[in-house]
Amino acid sequence: MNKIQTTVAVTLLSLIPGMALSAGNATEGYNKSTLCHACHGATGMSTQAIYPKLGGQQQDYLSKTLRDFRDGDRQNAIMNGFSANLSDADIEDIAAWYASQQGLTEIKDK
Ligand code: HEC
Repeated sequence: MNKIQTTVAVTLLSLIPGMALSAGNATEGYNKSTLCHACHGATGMSTQAIYPKLGGQQQDYLSKTLRDFRDGDRQNAIMNGFSANLSDADIEDIAAWYASQQGLTEIKDK
C-alpha cells in the first residue's frame, strides 16, 4: 500500500462503529482503576445501587462519559473529582478494562 491508500484504509476503519483506533489497554486500565474499585468494584459489578455497574458497558460510552465528567460536561461532585486527573490515555485504558468484563448477563428466555 502506498501512503494515500494507507490513509484511506485507516480513515475507513475509523468509521466502523466500535473500531476506535485508540483501543485502550485493559491490563493497564485495571491497574489505573484501583481507586475506582471501592465504589464500582474491580470488575465493575458494584454492590450498592448508588454506584452504577460499569462491567460489560460499551467502551465508547465509558470513555465519553469519563471525558464528560473530567471536562465538566457531566456534573457529579464525586465523579468530577475522581476523573479530574485522568489523561485521555488513562480514560481509554480504564474504559477498555471495564468494557472487557462480563457485566450483567442478558437472560434469553425463549
Ligand atoms: C466514592 C465513590 C466513587 C468512586 C471512587 C468512583 N466513582 Fe464513578 N461514580 C460514582 C457515582 C455516585 C456515580 C453516579 C454519578 C451520577 O449520578 O451521575 C458514578 C458514575 C460513574 C460512571 C458513569 C456510569 C454511567 O452509567 O453513566 C463512570 C463511567 C464512572 N463512574 C467511572 C469511574 C471511574 C473510572 C472511577 C475511578 C477513576 C470512579 N468512577 C470512581 C461513584 C464513584
